[in-house]
Amino acid sequence: MKNGASFTFHDLAPGEESFRDAVLTGLGRATKRIPCKFFYDARGSALFEEICRLPEYYPTRTEIAILEDYSTDIAAQIGPHCRLIEFGSGGSQKVRILLQALDRPAAYVPVDISREHLRDAAISLAEDFPSVPVIAVCADYTRPFRLPPLPGAGGKRIGFFPGSTIGNFEPEAAVAFLTNYARILGAGGEMLVGVDLKKDTDILEAAYNDRAGVTAAFNLNLLERVNRELDGDLDIDRFEHLALYSDAEGRVEIYARSLADQSARIAGQRFYFAKDELVHTEYSYKYSVGEFRALAARAGFRPVDTWTDPAELFSVHYFRLR
Ligand code: TRP
Repeated sequence: MKNGASFTFHDLAPGEESFRDAVLTGLGRATKRIPCKFFYDARGSALFEEICRLPEYYPTRTEIAILEDYSTDIAAQIGPHCRLIEFGSGGSQKVRILLQALDRPAAYVPVDISREHLRDAAISLAEDFPSVPVIAVCADYTRPFRLPPLPGAGGKRIGFFPGSTIGNFEPEAAVAFLTNYARILGAGGEMLVGVDLKKDTDILEAAYNDRAGVTAAFNLNLLERVNRELDGDLDIDRFEHLALYSDAEGRVEIYARSLADQSARIAGQRFYFAKDELVHTEYSYKYSVGEFRALAARAGFRPVDTWTDPAELFSVHYFRLR
């Protein structure tokens, strides 16, 4: 650690057991599924960063452009001495744009389930922003948890939730998640959230079916993770990546599809997969500006401002708690 950097790490030990439970329960259901939060092991996190650089995957670069173009407006909304709390901070790249623009932030609190990735990203950020105390929290943010005491009492608590990760929750779960976030931010809290917009199906489907096959590798890594961590013998070559946009549901649906009738042993249990059977791994909901404001309102958030790119691919919303 370089001189002057301030970094602390709080490990709330998100359950190791839960991946096993989720897989055994999820694959035991009539419609099989593995929850998307398990994508981000070390290899999954690295593949996701590769996805973010793909030509077809417009969300990351578009959101970054919006944050850069409007960083002065955003920093003015936030004001001085804020405590910035990011759920699912991953590589902590986008927050750098904010930290450069913000007036003397009192703390940056990255929260992520992927322990080593969180530690590396938080240390590198603390070194690059030596005047900002970095307080990393390893936790499963889809469950209630308590934040450690934060410096700068009196400064606003600002939630930062970029990447349209909110779209990976089903709408009812998104409201529950935002309600939990609101409770952690407390009265007077505000939130900056990135949300992918509805658009042409071809653009949406290309973003989840890149030509280089990185998204397929990312999706199927979930099955490889089952083999690695749960003593599984899934034949990965007999599954394929599938991503389709449902206009009716307003979401991209992502699956691993079995290419044959087959079975596998996982953690001592046998599971059967019919040819063409789907294992659901993720939804990615897309919202118009009005639809997302209506959703956030159900968790007590009042819209303050929304920024978009000229092509209206992506939106960044600013909300204040009522
Ligand atoms: N939050 C990202 C999204 O919905 C996650 C993601 C991108 C993803 N590509 C994926 C998840 C492919 C599963 C498979 O855009």
